[in-house]
Amino acid sequence: MAIERTLSIIKPDAVAKNVIGQIYARFENAGLKIVAARMVQLSRQEAEQFYGVHKDRPFFKDLVDFMISGPVMVQVLEGEGAIAKNRELMGATDPKKADAGTIRADFADSIDANAVHGSDAPETAQVEIAFFFPALNIYSR
Ligand code: TYD
Repeated sequence: MAIERTLSIIKPDAVAKNVIGQIYARFENAGLKIVAARMVQLSRQEAEQFYGVHKDRPFFKDLVDFMISGPVMVQVLEGEGAIAKNRELMGATDPKKADAGTIRADFADSIDANAVHGSDAPETAQVEIAFFFPALNIYSR
């Protein structure tokens, strides 16, 4: 399987719970490398742009309010099949439906405060990575 990159965000709920390190350990134990990272307080405009694909959904305003409620930890993960692997580690969008042992099952409280974001396809990964990181600041190793 090809080496891919994916964008991961540890959302404000999980940052507030002080579990960044525990989530990073899951990435590393699954063979994913953190090749870029930064903590960001998103503006409303940035959050609206990042989640633009959902702008007509009923949960859009709540989602944006939540994403700007505190700092988020943003990282690029790299590894074999990184996009699907990260989605597997995350678990289902609704933590009540997430498999046991996934990040959302263990750390998320609700479908809106669900601990993590992960790109869902190569095209979205490319756009989302470029949203946060200039290519120069990504360090394959
Ligand atoms: P989505 O892209 O469908 O899920 P995922 O994060 O698993 O890729 O939705 C984006 C975010 O929108 C999701 O993480 C939480 C929020 N959301 C809600 O608050 N309510 C909902 O009913 C859905 C589908 C998503």
